[in-house]
Amino acid sequence: MAKKFKAFINGKWVATGSEGKTTNVNPANTDDVVGTFPACGVKEVKAAVRAAREAQKKWALVPAPKRGEIIKRAGDLMVKKKNEIAKLMTREMGKILIETQGDVQEGIDTAYYMAGEGRRLFGDTVPCELPNKFGMSARCPLGVCGMITPWNFPMAIPTWKIFPALMCGNGIVFKPATDTPATAVKYVEILLEAGIPPKLINLVTGSGRIVGNAMLEHPDIDAISFTGSTEVGRRIAARCGETLKRCSLEMGGKNAQIVMDDADLDLALEGALWGAFGTTGQRCTATSRLIVHKKIVKKFTARLVEAASKIRIGDGLVKTTQMGPLINKSQQDVVAEYVRIGIEEDKATPALGGRALKKGKFKKGFFFEPTIFTNVKRNMRIAREEIFGPVVAIIAVKDLDEAIDVLNDTEYGLSSSIYTRNVNMAFRAIRDIDAGITYINGPTIGAEIQLPFGGVKNTGNGHRESSHTVLDFFSEWKAVYVDYSGRLQRAQIDTD
Ligand code: UN1
Repeated sequence: MAKKFKAFINGKWVATGSEGKTTNVNPANTDDVVGTFPACGVKEVKAAVRAAREAQKKWALVPAPKRGEIIKRAGDLMVKKKNEIAKLMTREMGKILIETQGDVQEGIDTAYYMAGEGRRLFGDTVPCELPNKFGMSARCPLGVCGMITPWNFPMAIPTWKIFPALMCGNGIVFKPATDTPATAVKYVEILLEAGIPPKLINLVTGSGRIVGNAMLEHPDIDAISFTGSTEVGRRIAARCGETLKRCSLEMGGKNAQIVMDDADLDLALEGALWGAFGTTGQRCTATSRLIVHKKIVKKFTARLVEAASKIRIGDGLVKTTQMGPLINKSQQDVVAEYVRIGIEEDKATPALGGRALKKGKFKKGFFFEPTIFTNVKRNMRIAREEIFGPVVAIIAVKDLDEAIDVLNDTEYGLSSSIYTRNVNMAFRAIRDIDAGITYINGPTIGAEIQLPFGGVKNTGNGHRESSHTVLDFFSEWKAVYVDYSGRLQRAQIDTD
């Protein structure tokens, strides 16, 4: 019998959803059923919003340092349960154990960072233009925040949204991806055990089409924070525009690593392998283009192909595995289709891989070979569209200007990287690359939570997660003027 997971709404664990149930299987082995989950509907979203609204009013009055103490306890519980959660996460979405441990660690880092904000939440004090008058600004809660989160970082990304929202005094309606509700259940259990008031946090499992839409339509949700595809993000933004909900979008990427001819090649190679094939290429930050100086492109490609051909593919729970499966059948089909496009439409050459693995020990999972395309030109579809799989395109360039020009020639702008030993080139890249994140001598993946995370162009809509910058999304500024002159003072008029 499959384990029956529950949603958490209005302070109670709820076994059934008005839309039935969903079943979650292990993408490395579909015989392994992780569990069933309530498929919630409009009714559950309404109950969740009502509860969050009611609880939020009290939560907003809890002093921020106290909110921080609860968040700190949640971090401590995550430390204790790190391995247990990581194992469940690997079963539910496939990435290898050290990566799911890293995913939980990112949640822990966020908890401790945000707990510290309890004693900061800085505002400004400023001089006023009139005498005997004092000016300051303070952060106020927004109200109820709706979180729509993806499956590729089932713990880290919900924590990026939920901890800062809680710190700012908000109530939460949380809709995790349908592929990863089990990790979400663990996170909510931890929040409750840490002391978050039960009605404040609502976990509404179910589809984006029904639960996500109901959240968008609900007039009492003040903000939506979404991480996922650009296509869905665009629709969310349009609806939030009409209903005037605040909305933060973190969407697609087509991240590139530049390798200049003076780079430490061993280092650049290691970075490319990790950036392109880590998490089976299923990170928003994954390296999907390698822009390599033409003097070294042959050598670099040969070494990359050799190293990538040795990647051990399999079940992420097995210690020796280096790359797990894709998330589901439809993603396996999408990646296979991009390989077909690369070969047939783009006329690029796959120097390695290109096939879905469907036989023998791979039979029950959604595996795909590490795939490297060579002779790629910037206008090809495999060089422009997000694939979200272990596929990387190598593009040769003649100098730094061309490298940056090619890197920027995309609708996206999340992460980027350059390997060079030349400090002048590094700083030019920092200045000229259009992306939210730029690494010097590091791969495109590996953001730390104390710096802003997010992208430009069609990757985002101007907000940033992580760091203190995320607080701007989850709070409203209140400007306060205290006039202690005892008389009417008219700003801009009483100028003498
Ligand atoms: C994502 O892919 O959506 O920088 C998040 C990284 C991770 C977070 C990735 N720390 O790759």
